[in-house]
Amino acid sequence: MSIRLGDIAPDFEQDSSEGRIRFHEWLGDSWGVLFSHPADFTPVCTTELGFTAKLKDEFAKRNVKAIALSVDPVDSHIKWIDDINETQNTRVNFPILADADRKVSELYDLIHPNANDTLTVRSLFVIDPNKKVRLTITYPASTGRNFHEILRVIDSLQLTDNHKVATPANWQDGDDVVIVPSIKDEEELKQRFPKGYRAVKPYLRLTPQPNR
Ligand code: BEZ
Repeated sequence: MSIRLGDIAPDFEQDSSEGRIRFHEWLGDSWGVLFSHPADFTPVCTTELGFTAKLKDEFAKRNVKAIALSVDPVDSHIKWIDDINETQNTRVNFPILADADRKVSELYDLIHPNANDTLTVRSLFVIDPNKKVRLTITYPASTGRNFHEILRVIDSLQLTDNHKVATPANWQDGDDVVIVPSIKDEEELKQRFPKGYRAVKPYLRLTPQPNR
């Protein structure tokens, strides 16, 4: 069964490169990024996991824990981590789930048989501290993901959870944002957006990012 936005991320217990993980307990009060990759010792995956390791401080700033997954066993992950550290000039600082029995892959629908009937696709889930799924993406095996985009979406989610705004196309942290159309009352607009706003159309109102 596929996972949809707003669903509670399925809980599981599985082995990983950092020992046994009970997923919800491991997440605690953090946000989570759970991402699958096709296989250990493959070039694109090596760059993806190395880059994720380099984003450690960016994830920490946002209270996010990362966790990877493939259907390879723990001993393979451990050997591959040495290669990632060496070739990507980093240290893998997050667990890689060893889903050899495909328990998590089945729960999260990570094997797409018409793409490949044994390996996991490049799926990624952003999970909030209430364990709700807030972003799902799936990329083909041949295309490495853009992890700056994942951080950008997390910034947007964390902003829009706390302010009555949404973020426009290609928004980056610090850019103007749009006021949600449901706010129409002038007093409320003044109170929520003291820096003012610009109405391009009645439904398209831009305001400086409120948490800046
Ligand atoms: C890779 O990570 O390089 C890769 C994995 C599976 C198929 C194609 C590329």
